[in-house]
Amino acid sequence: MVRSFKIEKAHAGIIPESSLFKVLQYLDREERETPFLLIDTDKVRQKISMIGRAIRNARVFYAVKANPDIEILRLLSGLGTGFEIASEGELEILAQLNVDPERIISSNPVKSLKFLKMAASYGVRLFAFDSVDEVEKLVRYIPDSRVYVRLSVPNEGSEWPLSKKFGVELDEALALLCYAKEKGLNPVGITFHVGSQCTNIYNWNIALDKTKNLWERAEKEGITLKMLNIGGGYPIKYRKNVVSIEAIEKNVSALLYGKFPEHTDIFIEPGRAVVGDAGILVTSVIGKAQRGDESWLYLDVGVFNGLMESVGGIKYSYLVESLNQAANKKQWTIAGPSCDSFDVIDKNVTLTEPNIGNIMLILSSGAYTISYASEFNGFSIPRTILI
Ligand SMILES: Cc1ncc(COP(=O)(O)O)c(C=O)c1O
Repeated sequence: MVRSFKIEKAHAGIIPESSLFKVLQYLDREERETPFLLIDTDKVRQKISMIGRAIRNARVFYAVKANPDIEILRLLSGLGTGFEIASEGELEILAQLNVDPERIISSNPVKSLKFLKMAASYGVRLFAFDSVDEVEKLVRYIPDSRVYVRLSVPNEGSEWPLSKKFGVELDEALALLCYAKEKGLNPVGITFHVGSQCTNIYNWNIALDKTKNLWERAEKEGITLKMLNIGGGYPIKYRKNVVSIEAIEKNVSALLYGKFPEHTDIFIEPGRAVVGDAGILVTSVIGKAQRGDESWLYLDVGVFNGLMESVGGIKYSYLVESLNQAANKKQWTIAGPSCDSFDVIDKNVTLTEPNIGNIMLILSSGAYTISYASEFNGFSIPRTILI
């Protein structure tokens, strides 16, 4: 079935024509029930090849939490990417793909005991930590661990802040590195996370200044570090333009140069930037209603089965299937299918009016959608399909 979509100028910078063409071809070819998530593999390849390019000695570890679909992981594994994981479930998927443990790290500072046991037997040896208790857990379960301490850094300007829950200040970080060494672990580095969808390039400046300070203080204590893990945070375009990967990396590279030893290993753990803008959720309009002066549009995907980040402020872009290109535009409140009134994705979205049963494409929806989803109220979690 040939479908036609209302494409606005604003969409051009979000989804390349080549991706859109693949999506339309897929929809014409396959009669699959919505909702589902299409991932453009060319885009994933392009993004992964860009990340780390402008930073000397960089190694990329894809943050599996962004989208743990096994086919995505297989693709990335084939491209030689490393993986950052947090749990036994994520490790199980990598184990199915026989990923070498040397290519796996865990930057979750507080790990479950089940995960530690599994990581120990699989051979994972590189771990983040930020507490005395975590040192003791690692000593007990994986005494030959190499460890890196998580510094707390400002997250202002990131749309999905990750501060407070993890990370310690400089004095505590130094004490923890010393404690890890005293307990027989091998302290090798420092990590931080500037916050996800970080649109403020200066977050990396402050983070790297702090890191340098800790690096030098560790050296004075007899701990020579060799790895700096700059976490994730690279942003993607949802609606607004964001700072580019090249600009971030040029800045980071300039900050690293001369401040850290030449052979320092730089780890990067991108999640959103690898799969986010490669993903297009395909959903259907299941209802419309006028409530007072608000026009409501109901989709078969919502906050619970894929669009959880919308409640934290992520604003998606939508493409509406419309045979009538001249149909009226209206402002909509867009909601998901469940009976919960929390299930509202967006408000004041100007869209051409679709019919019930029409398809809507939700752009830049490849990261933190399926991995957050539940089957609350019996609505299915969209399948991920690589195109
Ligand atoms: C430890 C760690 N590393 C990497 C990431 C990936 O971050 P992003 O998707 O912003 O690149 C996250 C995200 O939560 C994280 O917690």
